[in-house]
Amino acid sequence: MNTTPIQTRIIDGKAIAAELRAKITSDIAERMANGKTAPGLAVILVGDDPASAIYVRNKHRDARAAGMNSIEIRLDADCPMSRLLDEVAKLNHDPDVHGILVQLPLPAHLDSNQVIDAINPAKDVDGLHPVNAGRLSSGLPALVSCTPQGCLTLIHSVLPDLSGQHLLMLGRSNLMGKPMAQLALAANATVTIAHSKSRDLPGLCRQADILVAAVGRAEMVRGDWIKPGAIIIDVGINRIDGPDGKSIIKGDVHFDQVMGIAGAITPVPGGVGPMTIACLLANTLTAAKRLDG
Ligand code: GUN
Repeated sequence: MNTTPIQTRIIDGKAIAAELRAKITSDIAERMANGKTAPGLAVILVGDDPASAIYVRNKHRDARAAGMNSIEIRLDADCPMSRLLDEVAKLNHDPDVHGILVQLPLPAHLDSNQVIDAINPAKDVDGLHPVNAGRLSSGLPALVSCTPQGCLTLIHSVLPDLSGQHLLMLGRSNLMGKPMAQLALAANATVTIAHSKSRDLPGLCRQADILVAAVGRAEMVRGDWIKPGAIIIDVGINRIDGPDGKSIIKGDVHFDQVMGIAGAITPVPGGVGPMTIACLLANTLTAAKRLDG
């Protein structure tokens, strides 16, 4: 076994996201100088989940800072399905709105699939509508979910060509695992999707040249699960109690254990998180260009 420690590179998601936001901001300024509309983003938040409220606030802040119109629609936690569908229908028909995002998870009485189905696919900046998910898997232009798109950008920052690389996707959600697998496949990687029912997760992970972890369990991926030199993309944002009783955020990967083994890793926080919003802004600009020219 190779025991020589590797100099693990830390992938700076914050800096890469800032670069992407700067590019979007200048594209929007140029667009508006040419007499075109400002891209408009509408985010619907149902209920008062504190983590969701923070995400929505940050999306609003970054959209405004980039020069977009940004509206936030807050509905009560007990809002009926019909009310939520009415809001989506209004936004579908509003010419100033180019991107619609319904913050997930929704309260248990609301069916997220039904809501997503109601969004105009051309405004579905989450890439969750079956039309966009299907187009992505068919290799057609689509709006693609923001977090996997951000992950791909981070992988490309250390490995421009994914051809023949074995990417293991840990997690199979519609928002992350499935679109990540499709993006990696389109980039010529060999892709495995593993999940909670997979046998021998450590063994599967050890085969991966690129490991993307989105399982929602703090530090589940240990140092001895990692192939030396692998690229690790940690999508986890897990709040746990710190030593002084304050809550701290940990990823799905045991960062300290994989340092010196992995070739590169995204930190938590400061890795994937900032990329998600930057990609949301990119999708909103793309949607505005397709809808308004
Ligand atoms: N909740 C956590 N991440 C996301 C996201 O990317 N989109 C939506 N709609 N909800 C989320």
